[in-house]
Amino acid sequence: MSTRIRWGILGTGRIAGEFAEGLRHLQDANLTVVASRNQTTADAFASKYGVGKALGTYEALASDPDVDAVYIATPHTSHCDNTLLCLEGGKHVLCEKPFAVNETQVRTMIAKAQEKGLFLMEAMWMRFIPLIRELRKRLAEGVIGEVRMIQADFGFRVDIDPKKRLFSPDLAGGALLDVGIYPIEFSGMILGAPTEIVSLPTLGETGVDEQSAYILKHAKGQLSVLSSAVRTQTSQSAWIYGEKGRIHLSRQFWKASHMDVFLDGKEPESVQCPYEGNGYQFEAREVGECLLAGKLESSVMPHLESIRLIQTMDRIRQQWGLKYPME
Ligand SMILES: NC(=O)c1ccc[n+]([C@@H]2O[C@H](COP(=O)([O-])OP(=O)(O)OC[C@H]3O[C@@H](n4cnc5c(N)ncnc54)[C@H](OP(=O)(O)O)[C@@H]3O)[C@@H](O)[C@H]2O)c1
Repeated sequence: MSTRIRWGILGTGRIAGEFAEGLRHLQDANLTVVASRNQTTADAFASKYGVGKALGTYEALASDPDVDAVYIATPHTSHCDNTLLCLEGGKHVLCEKPFAVNETQVRTMIAKAQEKGLFLMEAMWMRFIPLIRELRKRLAEGVIGEVRMIQADFGFRVDIDPKKRLFSPDLAGGALLDVGIYPIEFSGMILGAPTEIVSLPTLGETGVDEQSAYILKHAKGQLSVLSSAVRTQTSQSAWIYGEKGRIHLSRQFWKASHMDVFLDGKEPESVQCPYEGNGYQFEAREVGECLLAGKLESSVMPHLESIRLIQTMDRIRQQWGLKYPME
């Protein structure tokens, strides 16, 4: 493989465009191909983002010789099938979050990547944002002592549209899998898998959760108090409380560029990690670095973390009795 990773994008919706923008901030990446379920949409995307080749089927992308890695940007319910298709075609895969709808699907995807000897990663871009890396480094150094509690929320308000991905049970809509995944992953990244979960949803008229709250208990008694919503605007911030102080990440904590560190008895410290672009370039850079190093998974977002994450979300849905039609 050359040192420039040749990317293909599968699906041409909102996040596909963001990822294409993000790739522009990477020197070692070429966006060579885009694929849609129809040629006209693929052509429109290619012309908007300057992509050389536009394909009218996902199958054509999976077997295209001009692609090293495919970024999958389809609804949650398609992630598993699309990933398997690309792995079968010999492509490395970066697949949007949630990795898939449930643990069975996630394990199937990972097993196929291992069987084929190909790279696979969930596009949990939060973990690659410079400030989040700095946060993890400081926590590991014990800046606030042992972490005792986390609070985080991700909620926004949009109008109900039963045909839209967010509200459609057929597309595994709802707040949990779409945005609840961020506070849950934020907690898991710092405190690991929960030992106990208490959660409640507000199910809307289409049958998926319009808002949901989760309290997770961890091995040493630490607590995570988390929430998510698609019909309620929330602060979208995160607090980490430790034995010696606390850290605050303000609005859009998952892609923040600054945090405030409050240590007991000291002046607050404002930590800045500014970056250019929309932030999606960092996960793509990780994929490129892993491919060049011959790695089949990322040490920053390894397969085990994706399994832990989907297990937590499966357990939460089980408490609610919420199954999607395809399950
Ligand atoms: N990382 C992030 O910050 C972030 C942000 C938003 C979304 N996401 C994730 O990215 C995925 C896509 O989200 P999105 O907001 O980009 O969705 P979207 O705007 O609805 O786009 C999804 C695309 O998937 C393709 N598709 C394939 N099967 C489809 C179906 N049955 N119904 C609708 N579209 C279908 C379509 O592309 P073609 O017509 O070209 O085939 C469509 O444009 C979701 O899993 C979501 O969780 C991540």
